[in-house]
Amino acid sequence: MKRLNSQLQEDGAPMELILLIRTLLAGCKEISFRVSQGALAGVLGSLLSENVQGETQKKLDVISNQILKDILKESGYVKAISSEEEDDVVGCHPEGKYLVSFDPLDGSSNTDINSLIGTIFSITHAPQWMEPDDPSAFLQPGTQIVAAGYVLYGPSTMLAMSTGRGTHLYTLDKTHGGFLLTKANVTVPDQTKEFSINSSNQRHWEQPMQDYINDLLAGDEGPRGKNFNMRWVGAMVGDIHRILSRGGIFAYPFDKRNPKIPGKLRLLYEANPMSFLIEQAGGAATTGERRILEVMPHEIHQRVPVIMGSKEEVETCMTYYE
Ligand code: AHG
Ligand code: MN
Ligand code: MN
Ligand code: MN
Repeated sequence: MKRLNSQLQEDGAPMELILLIRTLLAGCKEISFRVSQGALAGVLGSLLSENVQGETQKKLDVISNQILKDILKESGYVKAISSEEEDDVVGCHPEGKYLVSFDPLDGSSNTDINSLIGTIFSITHAPQWMEPDDPSAFLQPGTQIVAAGYVLYGPSTMLAMSTGRGTHLYTLDKTHGGFLLTKANVTVPDQTKEFSINSSNQRHWEQPMQDYINDLLAGDEGPRGKNFNMRWVGAMVGDIHRILSRGGIFAYPFDKRNPKIPGKLRLLYEANPMSFLIEQAGGAATTGERRILEVMPHEIHQRVPVIMGSKEEVETCMTYYE
C-alpha cells in the first residue's frame, strides 16, 4: 500500500509542506493514542474553563490543542496558528512559511460516550510581511487553502486530506505508525437519499431550509418522490466522513435565534477545511447564499451557516433559497 509521503509527492506538494503535514500528523497520532486510552489515562470529562466561544472545555479539547500547538511551534515551518481553543492567534516561528488553523478536537461532546471524534485542519501560505502574532493574515478566503484535512479517531484512525489534487483517504497502521493510502480520489456521489441535520433546531431555521427538510421528510409521497434516511453523529468529522464515503447532505444552517452568530460551525476550523475536502471530491459546499470557500472572514472565530455534500442535492436545496 502506498504511504502518505509518496502520495503527497505525486500530488506535487513542496517538501516543506510535506514536512509540515507530517509534523501535524505526528501530533494527531499522539491525540489518537490518548483518546484510545480513555478513562485509563484520565482524559475524559469536562474542565471548569470555557473557550472564547463560550463552550465548556472538555479535558481532551485542551490536551489536543496543547499537543498540536507545541509540535507546530517547535517545527519551524509555521509562522502562526489559530485554533478553536485559543482566544487569539499564536505566533510561532518568524521564518515559518505557513499558517495552520485547526479544531483540535471536533465532536467533543462525544468524548464521554466513546463515540466518533476528530481533528480538523487547514494550511495556507504565511505572507512575508506578516508579524507572527498578526491575526489579519488568517482572514483569507478558503480558496487560498494549500492543504486541508481531518483525522478521525474511530474504530480505526483515518486521515482524509487534500492538497488540491483530489481528496484521498488514509488509514493509520498502528503496527508501524504510518498513514497508508486506502482510497485515492474519493468521489461524493452527485445524488443521495441521506441527510444529516440536528432536527431539534428546525423551528429556528429560515423558511427555505424548513421547506426543504419538510419535502425530504414527505418521502415518496412528496415532491421529491423518494424516501430519505437521516443520520447525525453529532461530530462534523463523523458526518462528513460518511458523506465522503457514501454521499449525503449535511446542514448546520442559519439559525434565527441569534442573527449575529449565523450558525454554530466555525469558518476557519470546520467549514472551510471540510468544504475544501468535499469540493475536491466533487461535492458542493454553501452557506445558502454563497460558496463557503469564497466567504471573506472578518474575524478568526467567525461562524457560518453550512450546507454541504452531494452536488445535485446541495443544488436542489439551494433552489429553495432562490
Ligand atoms: P466542537 O466539538 O469542535 O465544538 O464541534 C461540535 C460541532 C460539530 O462537530 C457538530 O457537527 C456539531 O457541533 C454538533 O452540534 P449539536 O450539538 O447541535 O448536535
Ligand atoms: Mn468546541
Ligand atoms: Mn468542531
Ligand atoms: Mn473542537
